[in-house]
Amino acid sequence: MLDRAYRLPVEEPAELAPVVKPPLLSVDDAKAMDLPKMTELFRDHINPGQLHFMKLLGFNRVKVERAEGMYYIDQNGRKILDFFGGFGSLALGHNHPRILAARQKFQDEQRHEIAIAFLSQYASALAYNLAQISPGDLDMVFLGSTGSEAMEAAVKVAERAAGPKRPKIVYAENSFHGKTKGVLSLTDSPLYRGEFRLVGDTVKVPFGDIEAIRRAFESDPTIGVIVLETIQGGGGIIQAPEGFWKQLRALCDKHGVLWVADEVQCGVGRSGKFYAFEYENVVPDVTALAKSLGGGKTAMAAMIARREVYMKAYGSPKTAMIHAQATFGGIGEACVTAIETLNVLYDENLIENSAKQGAYLLQRLEAIRQKHPKLVKEVRGRGLFVGLEFQDFSQTLPMVLKPMVAMLDDKLKGSLSGFIGALLLRDYGVLVAFTEYNRNVIRLEPPLICEAEHVDAFCDALDDLLSRGITGIVKDFLMSQVN
Ligand SMILES: Cc1ncc(COP(=O)(O)O)c(C=O)c1O
Repeated sequence: MLDRAYRLPVEEPAELAPVVKPPLLSVDDAKAMDLPKMTELFRDHINPGQLHFMKLLGFNRVKVERAEGMYYIDQNGRKILDFFGGFGSLALGHNHPRILAARQKFQDEQRHEIAIAFLSQYASALAYNLAQISPGDLDMVFLGSTGSEAMEAAVKVAERAAGPKRPKIVYAENSFHGKTKGVLSLTDSPLYRGEFRLVGDTVKVPFGDIEAIRRAFESDPTIGVIVLETIQGGGGIIQAPEGFWKQLRALCDKHGVLWVADEVQCGVGRSGKFYAFEYENVVPDVTALAKSLGGGKTAMAAMIARREVYMKAYGSPKTAMIHAQATFGGIGEACVTAIETLNVLYDENLIENSAKQGAYLLQRLEAIRQKHPKLVKEVRGRGLFVGLEFQDFSQTLPMVLKPMVAMLDDKLKGSLSGFIGALLLRDYGVLVAFTEYNRNVIRLEPPLICEAEHVDAFCDALDDLLSRGITGIVKDFLMSQVN
């Protein structure tokens, strides 16, 4: 203890200007906000251009008051059947009771969140669980918050393990791996690339074309990594030909190329297996999960690497901190949510249910396609990861409607999916997802808790809507824009 006599005299601080609280909205204000106010604030502070699309589809007319299981409940108490599923983020549906309970307990016990100083029992348990689920020696786990972050981590671990003499990365046409600057170079979208400067060391191949990959590997020994979605989501639910992944594994082994499997959208049981690559009994060198790993309640993502690959990249004290977890990597409540999510997934047999209900959905959709061949071109998918492709109607549209359709947004002109999605929501209370790369495709990614009655409700609504015929659908959509 310092003797008082040695203390330096402390000057009284000059009077500080008081900090005035700005006119902030409270949580209760936010809850009570009406649609016109929500629209105004979205326009003024989030994304004015995006409102244009929300208005076209009628999404701006819904204020969600609650969400439970397979449904949103809007301001009028109307139930909206969720076949969009947050682009695959809602494997357990909305507000699964076990997820709510696990989170509530964590809060009641006042557990700690930030895991950068001390070890976290929750981060360790989640990493262990993911290693248990993942085949082979996919044992090393990096925790993050978003799919893009997990994919950045995946590409970085692979790049370091491949070494500086093999810097080139192969990726696929119509790929989507995220919008952050690194993985943007592997995302095949002129829109998202938006004229940003990208990493140059990449080689693009058609998705699922093993011969193109063989030629690339044989002609360029500086290729060290190949990055592919196991089932392309943004591309419109596209699968590689059967046997492709086995051939890819063999080719990668032969040429010493590391395979990164992006399972951000198709993983966590969506395809009817935990990982879609399990259909061919192969193991990639690195994989990535996000979306449903957060139990529909939080942001959680994981990169999982084979131990050998991870150790090569970051295995020594000297390299360990090159890409260690970020501030919110392995944050407490998110880990608890993900641990519970994985347990629920198995306890409730949701992976099998995805395979079962997915097969039923495809069967019903195929019958609808046969009934409406002029409107529906193809149905495809695996598990509850389904694409519904409509015919391009720009050639078949009745002459009288052409001038009216010509006035619409470019994104809607040749594509029925916008019209159908908007009318499914307005007239049947059913929500579906669109596909940026292929405007004719609607994506169906309902929660894996989906039952036959939900598949029937969706298919009955679609069938009824398609029975209006092209003229009825286009006219009803155009009317929805003026009402
Ligand atoms: C296959 C795939 N990879 C990566 C991402 C990026 O995930 P996020 O939007 O969470 O950053 C997505 C998102 O849709 C995705 O579908």
